[in-house]
Amino acid sequence: MSIPPQIGRNLPRVDAHAKVTGAARYSAEHHPSGTAQAVLVCSEVPSGRITGIDSSRALAAEGVLAVLSHLNLPRVAAQPHLIPSLAGTTAHGQSFFPMQDDRIHYAGQPVAMVVADTLERAEYAAELVEVSYAEEPWVTTIDQGRGEAYEAERIFGGLVPGRMDRGDVEQGMAQAQVVLENTHHFAANHHNPIEPSAATAVWDDHKLTIHDSTQGPTATRLTVAELLGIPPSDVRVISEFVGGSFGAKAMIWAHPTLAAMAAQHVRAPVTLALTRTQTFSNTGHREEQEHTLTLGARLDGTLTALRYRKLSPTSHYDDWAEPSLGPAAQIYACPNFEGVYSLFRSNTMTPTFMRAPGEGTGAFVIETAMDELAHELGIDPIELRLRNHADTDPETGNPWSSKGLKECYARGAELFDWASRDPRPVQGARRDGNWLLGTGMASAIYPVYGVMNPQRARARVYADGRAVLETGCSDIGTGAGVILRQVGAEVLGLTAESVSVHYGDTELPNTVAAVGSAGAGAISAAVHAAATKLRDQLVAQAVADEGSPLHGADPGEVEVSDGRMSLRGAPDTGETYGQMLGRNMTFDAEAVGAWHPPGPDSGYGMATFGAQFAEVAVDPDLGLVRVRRMTGVFAPGRVLNPRTAHSQLMGGMLWGLGQALLEATHMEPNQGRWANPSLGEYLLPVNADAPDVVVETIEVEDRVVNPLGVKGVGEIGQVGAAAAIANAIFHATGRRFRDLPITIESVM
Ligand code: MOS
Repeated sequence: MSIPPQIGRNLPRVDAHAKVTGAARYSAEHHPSGTAQAVLVCSEVPSGRITGIDSSRALAAEGVLAVLSHLNLPRVAAQPHLIPSLAGTTAHGQSFFPMQDDRIHYAGQPVAMVVADTLERAEYAAELVEVSYAEEPWVTTIDQGRGEAYEAERIFGGLVPGRMDRGDVEQGMAQAQVVLENTHHFAANHHNPIEPSAATAVWDDHKLTIHDSTQGPTATRLTVAELLGIPPSDVRVISEFVGGSFGAKAMIWAHPTLAAMAAQHVRAPVTLALTRTQTFSNTGHREEQEHTLTLGARLDGTLTALRYRKLSPTSHYDDWAEPSLGPAAQIYACPNFEGVYSLFRSNTMTPTFMRAPGEGTGAFVIETAMDELAHELGIDPIELRLRNHADTDPETGNPWSSKGLKECYARGAELFDWASRDPRPVQGARRDGNWLLGTGMASAIYPVYGVMNPQRARARVYADGRAVLETGCSDIGTGAGVILRQVGAEVLGLTAESVSVHYGDTELPNTVAAVGSAGAGAISAAVHAAATKLRDQLVAQAVADEGSPLHGADPGEVEVSDGRMSLRGAPDTGETYGQMLGRNMTFDAEAVGAWHPPGPDSGYGMATFGAQFAEVAVDPDLGLVRVRRMTGVFAPGRVLNPRTAHSQLMGGMLWGLGQALLEATHMEPNQGRWANPSLGEYLLPVNADAPDVVVETIEVEDRVVNPLGVKGVGEIGQVGAAAAIANAIFHATGRRFRDLPITIESVM
């Protein structure tokens, strides 16, 4: 019997049932006997020095086991340094570790940690810790810091170059017949996953186990081990359930290490769960930023030059900027490009990745500029983009590993009925009562990151016909577990239902952290390698086994389906895995497989593309913007599971809606701290804000990125969505809104 393909099935996520029924146990919900609770006390001032910490009242409170601060917390064994997690290395979120000295760099910085027998007692005692400060002047906003800006040489430990250049921008601008220059301001944003970051640390003699809510268990392992000065093999990190992340849990911030230090101090397991408000100053953020794009084009719409400037605050000790230059640099065939990141020191923590880090903001800038250019020149926005289509990677001249962007435009236009669009961006040209109607579109691009280290997984089949597939990465809610199951099942010729999976544990073979939309590609490639190796091993054993009906067969002529090895095209021949294993008195067989990624010198441009469309209704009197329709068509390579892919892409598009209209963390400049650090005041789209969202994918074959041609869907859905909405608002009102979010008061 043969079974249908397992890749491409609409299976639910493996963590879905446990998550929606409340059975899932998150990192703060592991309570080994005697677990104590730690609560952070955070600085209320943005700059200065601690002049005193009075812990006496807290220590006298019931149930309190310890109050730790720079006065008594051990020094970390290694100075943290800002490095990326993508390579599966340590992943310090910033080069600053709290509670090592009396210096205050930002409001919300941890200054003390109270450990008590219950959470309530720890919270109460935390309020009794009295910290006094000598405040110093601070800078927390672009308005305050603009004059101190410098051009960054290396960003994020060198992962992002401080500037990008190709061609001759001066000459390109001289050739231009139209020049547009616009400046955009984007509010700071915070990730706000449903589960705030938390860690439970358990010591058993010198061995440490941490339940951590992380995108990369291995990154937590290596980082905590380095900071504590212990061998990584003594640290096990388990992340069975992760309640969302969006980049907040990509870097490894101080709290898992602090939990381990507290557990060492009180000689008991310790849980340290950040409050929602504490996550705003302890797990990174998308920085406030200003982008200026100068675009030069000929009258036929072809681009001659792009000049890009980004200005943003970073911390006092790290150079960090989200890499926003990518979309403008890479999406169109423009010969001349120049981009510069300018930074200034500010009293915030080091910013970090947030969903579609860089592309989410950068695409807004180039895609609203393209809309403006289309309008100025009287060219249809899709036609303008086709005229500038990059047939090869403009950064390198290399061919694309796969593309599909033109197909995305065409299918999106068809689904959205773009052909019947009235091009006039005249206020009130199209009305529905008081509502002014408009439509807009944008392109989307997101890189396929060439992770460097081998990606590993383990596959095991049992004689009873079941299998287990294992890899160390966590599933942050994207569906990593279900694709592990599907790919392994398909290669081994089993149904996904007969395969169980095990992930989120550093004791398992290592795959990359769930970052940069790289998870699905890495996991599918690793499990493909492991399952292929196991299948080949089983087939080799059968053809060599005198007791097997397949004895002497050409291994290349043996196929597997429904747990059976048989001769190609003759499904009734051969035998099952179980028959062969049982005859040889073994119960199982296993293999670890590794996939070696192509790396940066693959000779190809590797990116995912898409097209976004939006329809808005604007009430100009009340300043209301309602998004009525969103359509996104994407070409993410092979789609392993349409259900989870659809969910990721739709979630990304709605994230773009939030970016366009709602999301903003306001810095109160006179206090130097975030003014709205809660879900009550940090606005996100809810179901009532969500329009009809149509998502389609176009499968493009990609033989370069990884064996199954998976390019990832975690972030591309967001890219360009906000630009499509802003372009639709222009179409409805004739007005350009360049700053994000586009608030009611600005539209009014
Ligand atoms: Mo993702 S925002 O690259 O962690």
